[in-house]
Amino acid sequence: MTKISRAVSKAVGGYNRDKDMLIQILLDLQSIFGWLSGEVLTEVSEQLEVPVTQVYQVASYYKAFSLTPKGRHIVKVCMGTACQVRGSPQLLDIISAMLDIKPGKTSDDMRFTLETVNCLGCCAMGPVVVVDDAYNSKPSTPTLKKIFKTVK
Ligand code: FES
Repeated sequence: MTKISRAVSKAVGGYNRDKDMLIQILLDLQSIFGWLSGEVLTEVSEQLEVPVTQVYQVASYYKAFSLTPKGRHIVKVCMGTACQVRGSPQLLDIISAMLDIKPGKTSDDMRFTLETVNCLGCCAMGPVVVVDDAYNSKPSTPTLKKIFKTVK
């Protein structure tokens, strides 16, 4: 049994092989692997006895799922209205240049994935940049450089 089939077996079994829990099962597997590979989706299809097309449809429909590998560190720039007004588009350009990746992409060394998100619920802190789970309010360029240098 491979690592993937074991993980899928545990996730599917955790929900008593309930087909209605497909989304939750995929969420659990994404949190384990960081993304949903073709192998994971095929394994879910077989173990849950759901057509593979249905599994792919669900996985590709919801924005919460990633069908491509993600970097070890996720950088999220809030593009909600309050943050936009406070300069998040310029901040996104700066970060994109610093990391040399476009929004939605992952660096070649798999170190960073740059994402944009809508309102993180802390508008007064805007513009907000989240690196992994750390929220940064109005980070300056030197602060960002320090953060990106610190994370491995
Ligand atoms: S708009 Fe960015 S936190 Fe609300």
